[in-house]
Amino acid sequence: MNFNPSLSIYENLGGESTLRKLVEAFYPRVQAEPLLGPLFPEDITPVMDKQFMFLSQFFGGPSLYSDQYGHPMMRARHLPFPVTEERAEAWLSCMAAALHEIGVEDPLQAVILQRLSGPAHHFINTPS
Ligand code: HEM
Repeated sequence: MNFNPSLSIYENLGGESTLRKLVEAFYPRVQAEPLLGPLFPEDITPVMDKQFMFLSQFFGGPSLYSDQYGHPMMRARHLPFPVTEERAEAWLSCMAAALHEIGVEDPLQAVILQRLSGPAHHFINTPS
C-alpha cells in the first residue's frame, strides 16, 4: 500500500471508514489473544469506540477523543492494567494482523506499527 509522507497516517489510510474497519478487525484478535483478552470487558463496543476516536487524532485526523474526554493521558489510563513487555508485543502483533486483514501492507503498515510501538512500550508498567 502506498505511503505519501507529506500526508497524515489518517489520510494515507483513507480516513474514517478504514480506521473503523481497522478497529473492528483489531479487537476480536485482542479478545482471542490469551495475554490480552482477560484484561478487557466482555462488552468491547465502548472500548472500540474510544480507540477509534483516539487513533483518529493520533494518526493526524479529527481530535475526536480529546473533544469528548479531554487530555488522553494514555499511560495513566493504562495504569490499572498490568501491561508487560509480552502484552505490548502481543498488542502490536494483533495490530499487525488487523492491518494485514484489511489490506494495509508495507510501507504504510510498517509506518503505522512504528508509530504505535513507542506508546505500546511506554505503557509497560509491570515487570514480566
Ligand atoms: C501495550 C499493550 C496494551 C494493553 C495491554 C492495553 C490494554 C488496555 C485495556 C485493558 C484498556 C481498558 C479497557 C476498558 O475500558 O476496560 C485499554 C484502553 C485503551 N487503550 Fe490500551 N492497551 C495497550 C496499548 C495501547 C496502545 C498502544 C494504544 C494507543 C496508542 C492504546 C489505546 C487505548 C485507548 C484509547 C483506550 C481507551 C481509554 C479510555 O478508557 O478512554 N492502548 N487498553
